[in-house]
Amino acid sequence: MKIAIIGTGNVGGALATKWASKGHTILLGVRNTSEFKGKELLKNPNTTVHTTEEAVQSADVILLATPATIAVEVAKSLGDTTGKVIIDAANIVMGRGPQGYNNVADAILANTATRDVVKCFNSTGFNNMANTQYNGTALDMFVAGDSQKGKSVAKELALDAGFAECYDIGGNDKFQLIEQFAFFWINLAMFQGQGREIGFKLLKR
Ligand SMILES: NC(=O)c1ccc[n+]([C@@H]2O[C@H](COP(=O)([O-])OP(=O)(O)OC[C@H]3O[C@@H](n4cnc5c(N)ncnc54)[C@H](OP(=O)(O)O)[C@@H]3O)[C@@H](O)[C@H]2O)c1
Repeated sequence: MKIAIIGTGNVGGALATKWASKGHTILLGVRNTSEFKGKELLKNPNTTVHTTEEAVQSADVILLATPATIAVEVAKSLGDTTGKVIIDAANIVMGRGPQGYNNVADAILANTATRDVVKCFNSTGFNNMANTQYNGTALDMFVAGDSQKGKSVAKELALDAGFAECYDIGGNDKFQLIEQFAFFWINLAMFQGQGREIGFKLLKR
């Protein structure tokens, strides 16, 4: 796949590295092509840097891994997203997010042309995206959104990133729930003292 990474920090960097190693074409989309967080990602295979709009125009899939507070600004900076899949990894944390929205994906949907917006890669730490393994067992990932096309792309990319499974938790009406699930992880990791090296797996019998 041709994947534009908007937000080349902790989350964007971990996923760009995994996907590049799986043979995907990675187009880093940044504000300033000569100075940006994650410059070392250019050492990865199949990885180039572009302005945000150029990266989006050349891609089929767009990962948004930017701060929630600027979601509307970032959505408007993408240019024409018609027919493209957007995967939103951002979270409103402690009420800091786009004004007038209770989750980031709704803000993106309202400010872009594509209807294929899903929420994935938001519900665990970037360290778990860089390394999904816990004593030989891989973590699970979760996705929400109405777009079946978007969910199928997100699931394939979750498996390519090393997650064991990517569970569908429902439609756009679950966008806020999956952000709260992220905050559940943040609460355990940061506020309850468990640390970042924890993750979720669905057990079945
Ligand atoms: N950290 C985690 O473990 C984690 C896990 C799951 C989800 N998330 C969510 O993922 C998002 C990113 O988190 P992160 O930890 O990866 O952040 P980060 O390391 O601080 O990276 C943020 C990225 O956003 C870019 N950016 C900032 N303002 C921008 C703008 N106006 N237009 C375009 N790009 C802009 C920055 O680019 P510059 O280099 O130009 O500043 C940087 O590449 C957040 O919404 C967070 O809630 C984080």
